[in-house]
Formats: sequence, structure tokens, C-alpha cells
Amino acid sequence: RHDFVTIADLDKNALLYLIRMAQEFEKHPDRELLKGKVVATLFYEPSTRTRLSFETAANRLGAKVIGFSDAKASSVSKGETLKDTILMVSNYADVIAMRHYIEGAAQYASEIAPVPIINAGDGAHMHPSQCLLDLYSIYQTQGTLENLNIYLVGDLKYGRTVHSLIMAMRHFNPTFHFIAPEELAMPQEYKLYCEEHGIRFEEHTEFNDKVIADADILYMTRVQKERFSDLMEYERVKNVYILRNKMLSLAKSNMKILHPLPRVNEIAYDVDDNPHAYYIQQARNGLYAREAIFCHCLGITLDDITNDKTIIH
Ligand code: CP
Repeated sequence: RHDFVTIADLDKNALLYLIRMAQEFEKHPDRELLKGKVVATLFYEPSTRTRLSFETAANRLGAKVIGFSDAKASSVSKGETLKDTILMVSNYADVIAMRHYIEGAAQYASEIAPVPIINAGDGAHMHPSQCLLDLYSIYQTQGTLENLNIYLVGDLKYGRTVHSLIMAMRHFNPTFHFIAPEELAMPQEYKLYCEEHGIRFEEHTEFNDKVIADADILYMTRVQKERFSDLMEYERVKNVYILRNKMLSLAKSNMKILHPLPRVNEIAYDVDDNPHAYYIQQARNGLYAREAIFCHCLGITLDDITNDKTIIH
């Protein structure tokens, strides 16, 4: 049994193995590897990409999908606890992908569930499946994960995707550049994590064409209104950094712009047609990464995947 709760659990070989699996799924997404299995998706917070790509991944692998996208329409609204919900759904499903607003909810579920748990985002904490698709996107565009200059821009305080990315990249000798207003700066615990793992980082508050000129990856993030207890503070910082097409003239030729999406204002629409823009393909890569995660959790190997007998033509 393998849970997928935090990316920090995975060593370098495990990450590269999952990337190889995702490459196989990009070649052939439809394979009958999960025939006869039931996948549950339990989303206590809103989602478009994560839930739909997990469900598409399950469907393309031949599984059946159950679950809820609105916890209020389940017995959660009658007061059912997370513990009871997880135990109930474990009666029906072979694996559970869950998103919850409480940090550590997926970890807790993994300790009580008899089936593997996939963390599809827990509050402002971790988003490991997003992290795998981010790694995959970086690998596919740069040809390597090693020695890259990665710029993280926007909400670095509440951004679970950037927190997960730092942890995963510790194996690959990156240099991080954190660009955030003071209110949304990278939390101290992640800076300490960088220091403990020998990860170089610099902090900036300026965001302009010169600052990002040596980026290999420019990772934009949304300022997340739903994480603010003080909405006045959100109003002050919501449009702090906006990437515009004209800011890309000094960018390295193979620099790619990533964003976990959804975006609000932080990437102007005139960037979408720029060859540096990669965020739509990045979301597509979520399908391949999540097919790999289901296989990881259910004991399906790379050899099983490359066996052509499973391909659905
Ligand atoms: N990137 C991401 O988690 O998007 P959703 O919130 O739409 O799932």
C-alpha cells in the first residue's frame, strides 16, 4: 500500500520513476490498468483541474468513479466527521483522492483508512499531485530537473503548490528566487527547509523584465482570496504582480511560464500566445501525472504500464 500525501516522502529515484510512468501515459493515456477498481474523489474545497483530471485519469484507466464535489450535498452537512466519511468510503472504493481545507487532513485520513489516500490539496499546506505534474512539466520542457533557476512569484505564504515544489526540487540542486510582497513572503519554515537541505534561494520584492531575465522556470501563483482572514489585506495585495507580454523580451529562449491555475489577474491574457506560456499544457500534464499516481498507489509498475496488452486502441 502506498499513500500519496506529501511529496517529501518520495526520494529522487521515486520521483523520476513517476515521471517515466507519466511519459508512458502521455504516449498512450488509455490503458485498462484499473479495470474492476473503484476510485473515490472527495472534495471539501472547490476544484476544476485536480478533480476532473483525477476523474479523467481513472476513467481512462478503466476504473469507475464515485465521490462528491460539494461536501454540503453529502452527509457532511448532517455533521458526519471526516473519520466516519473516510471509513464509509473505504467500504466502497479501492483508493481515495481527497481535498480538504484543514492542513493535515489527508495525513489523518491515511492513518485510519484501509485503502490508499491521495492528497489533492490540504489547506495552505501541500498539493503533491500538482507538484508531480509541475515536475513533469519542468522535465518535459527543460529536458532535466537539475541545476535550474526557478522563480516563484505571488502568494508564497499560502501557496501549497510552491511549498510542495521546494520540497521536491531539493534533490535537483535548484536556485530559487522568491518574489512576493512582504505580506505574502515565503514562510520562515520553508526558508529553514531550504537552508537545512542546501537549497539556494534569494528574495525579491521587485517584479520586472530584468529580475526574471535568467529564469528557466517562471512559476506564477494566484493571490488566494479564500485564505485571507482580513479581506482589506487581500484588497491591498491582490494585483501586486501582473505578468504582461512586454515583460518577456529579455527572457531566456527556453524559459517556460507555469501556473497551477486558476488565474485571476496575475497573467495578462496577452501572454497566452507567447511561446513562453506553458500553463495550459501544464494542466493537461495533470492527467498523465495522476494516472501515474493511481498506479503508484495501487502497486502497478512501469513494466505493467509499458506492457502493450493494456493499451485501449
Ligand atoms: N491547480 C489546481 O489545484 O486547480 P484546481 O483548484 O482547479 O483543482
